[in-house]
Amino acid sequence: MIKAIMSDLIKKQILIGISGGIAAYKTAELVRQLIKKGANVRVCMTPSACEFITPLTLQALSGNPVHTDLLNRNAEAAMGHIELARWADLIMIAPTTANFMAKLAHGHAYDLLSTICLATQAPIHLAPAMNRMMWANIATQENRKVLINREYFVHDPADGEQACGEIGTGRMLEAQELASIIENMFTKKQPLSGYSVLITAGPTREAIDPVRFISNRSSGKMGYAIAKAAKALGAKVTLVSGPVALDAPAGVQRYLVESAKEMHHQAMTLAKTADIFIATAAVSDYSPAKISTQKIKKSTDILSLELHYNPDILFDVSHHYPDLFTVGFAAETENLINHAKQKLQRKKLNMIVANPVGNNKGFDKDTNQLEILWENGHISLPEDNKNKLAKELLLIISKHISKDS
Ligand code: PMT
Repeated sequence: MIKAIMSDLIKKQILIGISGGIAAYKTAELVRQLIKKGANVRVCMTPSACEFITPLTLQALSGNPVHTDLLNRNAEAAMGHIELARWADLIMIAPTTANFMAKLAHGHAYDLLSTICLATQAPIHLAPAMNRMMWANIATQENRKVLINREYFVHDPADGEQACGEIGTGRMLEAQELASIIENMFTKKQPLSGYSVLITAGPTREAIDPVRFISNRSSGKMGYAIAKAAKALGAKVTLVSGPVALDAPAGVQRYLVESAKEMHHQAMTLAKTADIFIATAAVSDYSPAKISTQKIKKSTDILSLELHYNPDILFDVSHHYPDLFTVGFAAETENLINHAKQKLQRKKLNMIVANPVGNNKGFDKDTNQLEILWENGHISLPEDNKNKLAKELLLIISKHISKDS
């Protein structure tokens, strides 16, 4: 029996570029998955990519000849660089090496793949893969910024064990993840298409003097995972972030702030044009009444700080913008559900997401556990990766919004 393919990729023309990195072996699986979803796939490899995986493998998987040379008389007659640049509905370069990112950032055109990238109007997606130090290198990070500003879609590498034996950020995303990213680009109506989502994330810092501050353990991982997932589900995403060590997710507009007051100002301004507000930030409830202009000296055994209550961003946003769909997070060490329910009512929210913290949970972890509550309902999402939970939470929110509208 022939199984019908149900995919938004049917007959879409996808050009897969491969530059020379060990992760090229994963690209074979990516090509296989795209073909399975009904896409027409052509592959273009740089000369060094051919050292890692043979063009013959990609030819067999894609069912098309593989393109490797810029100056090839036969290729020019059939599918030269301009032809390929015009043919593609979307280009995905996987892996994108540090060297290839640098080439693109500087507009080089001395191999077929970089030449196509200059000549095409198709959206170009990059899946970088490299040693963690190469990824962290300021030159690579500067190139990344240049490329994002030029509207390349950069899908940052994941953390984990690397081919070189080191552990860190640099692993290319898995084939299945890349195939979904490509498919999502062609999905006409996504669950959050047409919605504008505003998210707060990370900690705030409340200055005591020019060198000290009050803060907390939030890493921003939960909020950034929600921002990334909201983007992937079709939303326009704006992120107001306290100081974290994370990069802005691709396609997300980020505003960096430090204190609760700055976050309050930014969120109140941006909420005007948002449809959904998700407050994942761990905002300091109090800040020093006075900020010393000079570094405070050790002069007494006991030093007391007078703290004043900070504005409650979520409370103010939900009260000023009653039409906005507001979602709070509740970080609790005890009575998770009861405390969360009280916040749901007191802050006039549409939904609250309670997560247990303390005992090495919640803060600065890759995993979380969510209890999602609204007026007459409750869903528990057991401990899982924050990226996965973020997507599930957003799908639940999207169902509530379509019910409301
Ligand atoms: O960043 P990670 O390391 O990934 O950790 C994620 C997290 C544990 C910080 C996150 O999942 C979380 O629970 N965030 C909310 C933390 C918190 O401050 O909870 P709260 O119960 O104190 O506040 C309730 C809600 O009011 C929150 O949505 C908070 O953003 C908001 N709030 C609180 C105080 C304030 N002045 N303004 C606010 O907007």
